[in-house]
Amino acid sequence: MARILVMHGPNLNLLGTREPQVYGQTSLAEIDHDLRQRAMAAGHELETFQSNHEGALVDCIQQRGPQAALLIINPGAYTHTSIAIRDAILAVGLPVIEVHLSNIYRREPFRRQSYLADIALGQVAGFGSYSYIAALQAALHWLQQQESRASQST
Ligand code: DQA
Repeated sequence: MARILVMHGPNLNLLGTREPQVYGQTSLAEIDHDLRQRAMAAGHELETFQSNHEGALVDCIQQRGPQAALLIINPGAYTHTSIAIRDAILAVGLPVIEVHLSNIYRREPFRRQSYLADIALGQVAGFGSYSYIAALQAALHWLQQQESRASQST
């Protein structure tokens, strides 16, 4: 059993009511619940964290990162600005999958810059709340690969 950490950045606590034409109508609580159920069905533990504060996100990565096998993160607007979140992920050596509800490449040019994309295993963007499910599926696949690699080498 592995622990998967799911993190959400600023304004994602407002999902469901925040610009629903861009981000959809599913609330963050619904997304988190669904991910937890899916991870549990696959035999893993999934914990979630949301904050509007960059430092709180950095603290969470430092404190909970070392116990996690993988991080799924939607850093919200910090995607485009935060060297601190990038550095925290690198500091704890946490494999990361980057998620966005919207397709950040079809929007304002400033959203095309991601401080995580080049250190991530991969990125999922543009599928609304399904982006998180796709990211979790990729995470489960990745964990399985790691497990079978580890069992082959013993
Ligand atoms: C977002 C995209 C960001 O550009 C934006 O600032 C967000 C949400 C997304 O999930 O599509 O807050 O990360």
